[in-house]
Amino acid sequence: MFFPGILCGRQPDVAGRLIFGFSIFHEGSGYVRIPKITMEGFLERKNILCIGAGYVGGPTMAMIAYKCPQYKVTVVDINHEKIARWNSDDLPVYEPGLDEIIRATRGKNLFFETDIDKGIRESGIIFVGVNTPTKTFGAGAGKAADLQYWEKTARQIREASESPKIVVEKCTIPVKTALAMERILTSKDGSIRFDVLSNPEFLAEGTAIRDLEFPDRVLIGSRETPNGIEARKAIVDIYLNWVPREKIIESNIWSSELSKLVANAFLAQRISSINAISALCEKTEADIAEVSRAIGLDSRLGSKFLNASVGFGGSCFKKDILNLAYICRGYGLDDVADYWESVVGINEYQKERFILGILNAMFNTLAGKRICLFGFAFKADTGDTRETPAYTVARRLCEEKAELIITDPKALDNARIDLQDTDGITYEPDPYKAARGCDAIAVMTEWKLYTELDYERIYDSMSKPAFIFDGRNIMDHRRLHEIGFNVYPIGKRPLVHFT
Ligand code: UDX
Repeated sequence: MFFPGILCGRQPDVAGRLIFGFSIFHEGSGYVRIPKITMEGFLERKNILCIGAGYVGGPTMAMIAYKCPQYKVTVVDINHEKIARWNSDDLPVYEPGLDEIIRATRGKNLFFETDIDKGIRESGIIFVGVNTPTKTFGAGAGKAADLQYWEKTARQIREASESPKIVVEKCTIPVKTALAMERILTSKDGSIRFDVLSNPEFLAEGTAIRDLEFPDRVLIGSRETPNGIEARKAIVDIYLNWVPREKIIESNIWSSELSKLVANAFLAQRISSINAISALCEKTEADIAEVSRAIGLDSRLGSKFLNASVGFGGSCFKKDILNLAYICRGYGLDDVADYWESVVGINEYQKERFILGILNAMFNTLAGKRICLFGFAFKADTGDTRETPAYTVARRLCEEKAELIITDPKALDNARIDLQDTDGITYEPDPYKAARGCDAIAVMTEWKLYTELDYERIYDSMSKPAFIFDGRNIMDHRRLHEIGFNVYPIGKRPLVHFT
């Protein structure tokens, strides 16, 4: 998209400082006034602030501090307890490799603090990593992104700023949010220059540190104006400390904002596609792993994100797809919105199919039966349980009056919180103890440790007939069957001992 406008060039003032003239951009129905600024404040560009000390802000800033010792990086949050944990040995986020990086940087050039205004005043570059959950009220409830934290942050940046700032959207937000941000930032007296940029995070939980250190790409979007391009360069310079130039992509700000939603929608769409085919495999005696392999070897598709499962979870996929669909509807693109919503629809279907599969296999009654969930996190190597399919499965099994035992190496605290209003659940960190006396095991998370247990010992301790429902297709099904289990994978023929 091209934004017609008047651009006044830079010119030196009497003191030899660069002065930027007014730039007025016509954009849709509004005008954005970018004010006159001086070089004052640009020195603070070696001071980076991140507002929001969550899954995105914490690890990302730790990596920047680690790779860029010449920058001072400060992370702030309204949640003082969270900041206290970042300053302790008990970090609020579990990510393999994160604690080493924090140990190497904290107190040197990485600081976790609570004074947000001071952080804003002292920094030239401000990343915003506050949460943008799905709206739970009013227009767009359940679909649109709730931007209240974003907007409050924008106002706080405007009020506390005394010098030019580059404000970088790090969290996932709907396309065109930068425009609202610019309007808020410049709506006071317009005496301070703000450049709003988009630099979406693409890190996946559990591999965040690897994704940050060796990213597939870093995307930086800005206004295509001299000011915007100059601000973009300041962010490119940070990443150039460790990311090869060819992996740093520059784009217009709207492409950058939209790419984040679209990247997640495409990844989730692959999982829903393979999960939909897993249902067909179960009807036709095709094997989903073989189908996956056969199609994944087509280099145009590639093999990643083709593992059939009980369904995808995590904080991003469902939220971002529903948001994408909501945006489409806002532009009158109902068919496009329907298409993307169906990706989420298949995910719900897959979870329900898994639950009905358990019910059906266990003689259509679960009342009083003991079922052990192996894993509660939405995927391996994280304690995060947001949108985890295990939650839906747990709730539904309880509705069927099953007795549940949940085990997970990292997510039991979150599981307890998520299911606090559900009775009849026991939480047990030791998988052997958890499975003892159970009628069935349902594998919900692909933790490697579940593939390495002594299943003969587990089988001996269980009620008979013993069942395993492998919601992740990670187990050695043939071997489990030999031991005596009735084995139900996803998208493959069950291996049972009944005639
Ligand atoms: C995702 C995106 O990958 C990341 O780029 C973005 O920044 C945030 O959202 P994350 O939510 O951490 O990251 O998890 P991801 O690894 O993408 O997995 C999402 C879900 O899909 C998990 O529940 C996972 O178990 C499931 N999954 C993944 C499958 O069921 N099959 C697959 O083949 C891959």
